[in-house]
Amino acid sequence: MSEFDQKAADWDKNHDHSTRAQKLADYLATQVDLTKVKTAMEYGSGTGLLSFALKDKIPSIELMDSSIEMTKAAKRKVEEQGINTLHPIQYDMMTQGLPSTRYNLIFILQTLHHIEDTLGFVQKSAELLNPNGYLVIIDLVKEDGSFHEDEFHGHKGFVQAELEQKLKNSGLTVTHYGICHTIEKESEDGANKEYPLFMMVGRK
Ligand SMILES: C[S@@+](CC[C@H](N)C(=O)[O-])C[C@H]1O[C@@H](n2cnc3c(N)ncnc32)[C@H](O)[C@@H]1O
Repeated sequence: MSEFDQKAADWDKNHDHSTRAQKLADYLATQVDLTKVKTAMEYGSGTGLLSFALKDKIPSIELMDSSIEMTKAAKRKVEEQGINTLHPIQYDMMTQGLPSTRYNLIFILQTLHHIEDTLGFVQKSAELLNPNGYLVIIDLVKEDGSFHEDEFHGHKGFVQAELEQKLKNSGLTVTHYGICHTIEKESEDGANKEYPLFMMVGRK
């Protein structure tokens, strides 16, 4: 069982996970013209919190995640709520190749720092976008490594200029960068530590 398979059952019980989704959806809607978006894909969607928050604004969203348990949790919620516009699938495009569908919008929340080949992800996403499509990345600003308590081999957040360069190298124009949320965690000395999340928007 993967780390995220183990976390799936309790993912939505985390107050920050469940409350930030609507705020991020509202922010995203100020930076992307959603009236032009017919098909979207959330990559590393987990239980689908952000997609659920966007479901009334986008006609069809694929929720792609490599974790079977996260995908099952998302499917369960979709079925329970009788939603026919959200489509969870277990898939890892970093190892399984590109899907055949093309999208007007791809968004990724708190997942890029788990993907080793960041440039590869951006390039694949750019390929999957229709002309004028958007890639929206929401992730941690460069941090000191204290965000993950468990053993962690991913990226310790991102530097704006370095990530922007990867989008530019993949043929995308960066149209927005801003801080969209701040995660607060108690550090070892009992003090509160803040981890800002950025939103970067690239357009094909
Ligand atoms: C930190 S969680 C974020 C989940 C969700 N986006 C949220 O913020 O609630 C990271 C998610 O990315 C998924 N993930 C990690 N690596 C992945 C990959 N290579 N392909 C697809 N999903 C991946 C994990 O299974 C997990 O569900």
